[in-house]
Amino acid sequence: MMQPTEPVAEIRPALEPTFAPDDSGAELVIVANRLPIQRSTTPGAEDWRPSPGGLVSALTSVLQNRQGLWIGWSGAATDIAPPTSFEGIRLKSVDISAEEYDDFYLGFSNATLWPLYHDAIRTPTFHRTWWHTYQEINMRYAKAAAASVAEGGTVWIHDYQLQLVPNYLRQLRPDVRIGFFLHIPFPPTELFMQLPWRKEILTGLLGADLIGFQVPQAAANFSRIARRLLGATGTDASLIFDGRVIKVGAFPISVDCDFIAASAADPAVRARAREIRQSLGNPELILLGVDRLDYTKGIQQRIKAVSELFADGTLDPAKHVLVQVAVPSRETDAHYERERHDLEQVISEMNGDYGVLGNPVIHYLHQSMGFEELMALYLEADIMLVTPFRDGMNLVAKEYVMCRADGTGKLVLSEFAGAATELRGAFIVNPHDLDGIKEGIRMALNATPKEAKSRMLRMRRKIYRRDVYDWTEEFLNALQP
Ligand code: G6P
Repeated sequence: MMQPTEPVAEIRPALEPTFAPDDSGAELVIVANRLPIQRSTTPGAEDWRPSPGGLVSALTSVLQNRQGLWIGWSGAATDIAPPTSFEGIRLKSVDISAEEYDDFYLGFSNATLWPLYHDAIRTPTFHRTWWHTYQEINMRYAKAAAASVAEGGTVWIHDYQLQLVPNYLRQLRPDVRIGFFLHIPFPPTELFMQLPWRKEILTGLLGADLIGFQVPQAAANFSRIARRLLGATGTDASLIFDGRVIKVGAFPISVDCDFIAASAADPAVRARAREIRQSLGNPELILLGVDRLDYTKGIQQRIKAVSELFADGTLDPAKHVLVQVAVPSRETDAHYERERHDLEQVISEMNGDYGVLGNPVIHYLHQSMGFEELMALYLEADIMLVTPFRDGMNLVAKEYVMCRADGTGKLVLSEFAGAATELRGAFIVNPHDLDGIKEGIRMALNATPKEAKSRMLRMRRKIYRRDVYDWTEEFLNALQP
């Protein structure tokens, strides 16, 4: 039985909203945990450069066209203030202290919500102090948005770190249109119910006029729990709550297709791709994994599956090689530290067991990688392995497909990545099932060039139909009254 309807959460008195308007008057404001820029680590380079990825490019271009403003945290544990404008858009940074970073970022965002929303793959931790800081920081972002947005303007809030901002902002600025997009999965009722502050999070989100999710299942999970727990009425696509209509829907995010296609065709990138194959000893077949080093990504499980394929002779160390890129992430969290430790153990066992002198069976890079280097790797990857236990979308899968202009290459994809709802041409696997992953890889290995090409072209057509610019436009159009 479900819980009976619970009363609507109030804003805590300690967070009594007040804000001082500034002179931004922005028609469109993006609010995200991070600003779209990063401090450069290359000596002598410009201090700040744009964060990589199609999402930042698409949102930046829409802000450029609308005199917009981006509100976020600089991400830097440094006193150096980020610029107030960048590539034609205005930036407003939200300060987060070292203590708040622990409670808000590492704590509530990444040790409570992140695991809970990813099938509770790791046990979520619930601490009241983290929750209080989450409320305070969300109010900080809401006030920054309230101070900057023009009368009747639009505010688009992003992701799980900021789920209370829609309702806080509505209290401060009832005149503005508010959109919210969740980039990660939204869990089923059974898991969401664990959250001690479940009704506050739902109330926070319901402050928006439009709530977008990656896939229809997540949207349905949300609408169902909002009806059951808060007494919202209406359909999965249109909820009525607190006398307002809230649109709910799936807006699967995509990549910058033209940019990827152009990079993949760039002679310098192609030359680098050939060089990579050579430096790997010209193997007949390269398998590739590219992930943030995160326990949700199923990297160990995938490596174990490949390892067993070396063991049973399906793969041959003289001809086949796996490249695994694991981008460092949230390294001070104990779960992430443990994941790195265990992953490196599995990698070293695999090389110890099957590598030959001069030819390791797995090349492992624990580092972030420039976009062009990544493109070069995609170009040489005969089989791409994307096997997360749960993932909102997974853009690596889409980037890989967009690189394969000649229709070669095969994608092994987890059924629990949002991308699987669209990329039906992939070899779909259950990432919890070692034999299932092995079977998926075997099928990819044995697919005829004709079958593989028809699968790849099918996926390319699907992605080309809606790139990240279309995604931005669709969301903003749906947000209009
Ligand atoms: C996921 C989240 C993003 C987040 C990114 C990197 O993609 O949806 O909101 O920015 O991971 O994680 P980080 O903790 O470094 O921001």
